[in-house]
Amino acid sequence: MEAGIEQNHENVSVPTIGEAQVVPSTTKKTRVLVAYASRAGSTKGIAEFIAEKLRKNGLEADAADVDSVNDLSDYDAFVIGSALYMFHWLRQAEQFVSKNQSVLSTRPVWIFSSGPTGTKPTDKKGRDLKEVSGPKEIEDLREAVNPRDHRVFFGAIYPERLKGSTGWFGRFIPKEDTGDFRNWAEIEAWTGTIADTFSTCSLAK
Ligand SMILES: Cc1cc2nc3c(=O)[nH]c(=O)nc-3n(C[C@H](O)[C@H](O)[C@H](O)COP(=O)(O)O)c2cc1C
Repeated sequence: MEAGIEQNHENVSVPTIGEAQVVPSTTKKTRVLVAYASRAGSTKGIAEFIAEKLRKNGLEADAADVDSVNDLSDYDAFVIGSALYMFHWLRQAEQFVSKNQSVLSTRPVWIFSSGPTGTKPTDKKGRDLKEVSGPKEIEDLREAVNPRDHRVFFGAIYPERLKGSTGWFGRFIPKEDTGDFRNWAEIEAWTGTIADTFSTCSLAK
């Protein structure tokens, strides 16, 4: 991102990073909502981990199920994550984005998807799993909230914990792809880049 100087609407010179104007930080802590959609709990675990690391970095952060959040007005920034099923985000995560698009499109947003499992980084055709696992609606998401970044993280599968049709499909997952493949160091490093954005300044969208 390029840093620079721009005139604001009052003809005062203000520093910029990329397209965002840098607003000098006040004593109020930046408040981040980490909103997640999870079917079997592993994406919830990632969201709670991110919130905890943001708090350790001096921000205020809550992790909450997308279905439990009604009022976004208290939050300055958002991290939104969904589990991937059949190459898509969970419907409730998509609905959260479309329902709150007017707020989300005016604040800094980061998004993540949790999905691929197994120890190999590529599929049988040699393609990077993080690039082919979804979500298929990534371009719509980008258009809706203009996220600063989207990451695909490896997830976890325990077939015995899956219910309904997901559980039925889960029985066909090869044994070597079951278990917990979440990479906490990678998730923590990404969270650090989010926290760094707020370390010396607060950013308007
Ligand atoms: C039936 C089924 C379909 C899945 N489809 C995908 C997929 O398309 N892409 C992907 O990356 N992971 C897929 N996964 C793996 C899940 O995304 C992974 O287990 C994730 O960590 C689950 O998150 P959750 O525990 O929060 O529900 C699938 C898993 C199951 C059981």
